[in-house]
Amino acid sequence: MKDEIKKTEESRRNFIMKLSLGVGGIAAFAVSIPVIGALLAPLLGKEEVDWVTVGAANDFKPGTVTLVTFQNPDPKAFAGVTANTASWLRKDLNNNFIAFAVNCSHLGCPVRWEATANLFMCPCHGGVYYHDGTVASGPPPRALSQYRVRINKGYVQIQTGPIPITNLRASRTR
Ligand code: FES
Repeated sequence: MKDEIKKTEESRRNFIMKLSLGVGGIAAFAVSIPVIGALLAPLLGKEEVDWVTVGAANDFKPGTVTLVTFQNPDPKAFAGVTANTASWLRKDLNNNFIAFAVNCSHLGCPVRWEATANLFMCPCHGGVYYHDGTVASGPPPRALSQYRVRINKGYVQIQTGPIPITNLRASRTR
């Protein structure tokens, strides 16, 4: 009788151990799928960047800065309105475009363009940027980031991605 109870207990323990290992293995596999996908994406050429059209080049007046909105190139199903983003698009007097990220380089608050002052202003901690995105004053450690811009068949396109390219110009040049 004692042997039978011992055997039953052992078999129950074995079953619970195998069940725990199986469930743990499935959970570990499920968690690792997105990590493996993110690691392999660059090798497979699956970068989450794309060119998005934000308007006809002739619709932007030289010497102006315009807020353009667009959707992230790879919005997640659950993203909702957070899939939308924006850029401050500047067209200079020579018809060149620069697309600034809307986020302050300090802590990421959205900056606004003050046309009368010719400055970008951050409402959070008083960061100020010149019209070319370089820092004028306040806590921002560097210039506004920029997206790559191109003209394609008369339309302005911005190359979007998970993170805007870093502006390598010195931030406090003035
Ligand atoms: S987030 Fe813009 S100044 Fe701090």
